[in-house]
Amino acid sequence: MKILVTGGCGFIGSHFIRLVLRSRRDVRVTNLDALTYAGNPENLRDVEKERRYAFVHGSIVDPDFLERTAGEGFDAVVNFAAESHVDRSLQGPVEFVRTNVQGTLHLLEAAKRHGVKRFLQVSTDEVYGSLPPEGAFTETTPLHPNNPYASTKAGADLMVRAYVHTFGLEAVITRSSNNYGPQQYPEKFIPLFVTNALEGRGCPLYGDGMHVRDWLHVEDNCRGILAALEKGKPGEVYNLGGGNERPNLETARAILEILDRPESLLQFVKDRPGHDRRYAIDCTKARRDLGWTPEVPFDRGLRETVEWYRAHGDWAARIRSGEFRKYYEKQYGTPFAKLSKQRAGGGESTPIRRKKK
Ligand code: NAD
Ligand code: TYD
Repeated sequence: MKILVTGGCGFIGSHFIRLVLRSRRDVRVTNLDALTYAGNPENLRDVEKERRYAFVHGSIVDPDFLERTAGEGFDAVVNFAAESHVDRSLQGPVEFVRTNVQGTLHLLEAAKRHGVKRFLQVSTDEVYGSLPPEGAFTETTPLHPNNPYASTKAGADLMVRAYVHTFGLEAVITRSSNNYGPQQYPEKFIPLFVTNALEGRGCPLYGDGMHVRDWLHVEDNCRGILAALEKGKPGEVYNLGGGNERPNLETARAILEILDRPESLLQFVKDRPGHDRRYAIDCTKARRDLGWTPEVPFDRGLRETVEWYRAHGDWAARIRSGEFRKYYEKQYGTPFAKLSKQRAGGGESTPIRRKKK
């Protein structure tokens, strides 16, 4: 079986690729990634030499490139590629529409044209909007996205639905809650607070810090995505949540406690515009129909995650300094700046570089 994974150099995609290569011996994975600021080839350094893994540099907003890539023949596509940070979507929503909506559309089209048998769209609980203090999102909760990131993810989900209904594409959607774990880009809440606290810098809590998120360990999410890819019913949505609802203030305090850093590092700052108050996931359907269940308790998962960042201070430092780009140039030979420019212009992508079989 051949799987095309998009966005595999990012946080969740890289964990997913590692899971697949480890647990499915008969599967080959091609990782298609545009290497935006969030794409870090170093995240997959440990599998680069694996014969069942190949990296392709290119963008899902480039239909010609997708046409050529899909032409190689894949049994399944798993789409992680996205602009994923809410705060960036407030500053520059156009790139979110391009990548998340238009890119997904191009990928669906390529999958349709080349008879791909399974398509898994990695989505988010943010498409459902914000919850009052009680209740949880089910798969039938109406879509009420509240920020540009969430709206583009909802747009992509609706496009997937159209390809199932109109063209019979065997596509499945997973919607997960907030992920945490090693190798998450340190702009997101948990890695930002951990890396800032480690450096003795302030940790900016938006508003009153009482916004609630339901934390799911990235490996649990990846297991759920794989289960949905293998067992999900075409056209269906599966919610994946950790059952770990916490106000941000509580999570922030837990991080500082693990690191033995003072609470004075917490800084209450102006709230994020349109900030969703609460997310919570009902994942009864995934438990029942996919046999999936989250396995990592939040206390243990958070402690291990914090310890990972503490032990890999060089990883975050390299990202912050842009040094991982040098690693990329050494590995793949094309100057990073040129690649970013190509992507921004939607131009020609670099040719496929394959490992010797
Ligand atoms: P990330 O920002 O860490 O990684 C995104 C990856 O996509 C990067 O490797 C980037 O280079 C790549 N990419 C971006 N634009 C591309 C393009 N045009 N073509 C090809 N590759 C491109 O994101 P993440 O946190 O790993 O999230 C992965 C997916 O999961 C996203 O679709 C996101 O919406 C979804 N999701 C994330 C969370 C979370 O908590 N992080 C929760 C629910 C759903
Ligand atoms: P984030 O990791 O950006 O994920 P999302 O917005 O997709 O939920 O943020 C998680 C929560 O943490 C969210 O309620 C916003 C809050 N937050 C802060 O309080 N300070 C920060 O610096 C960041 C990045 C997030």
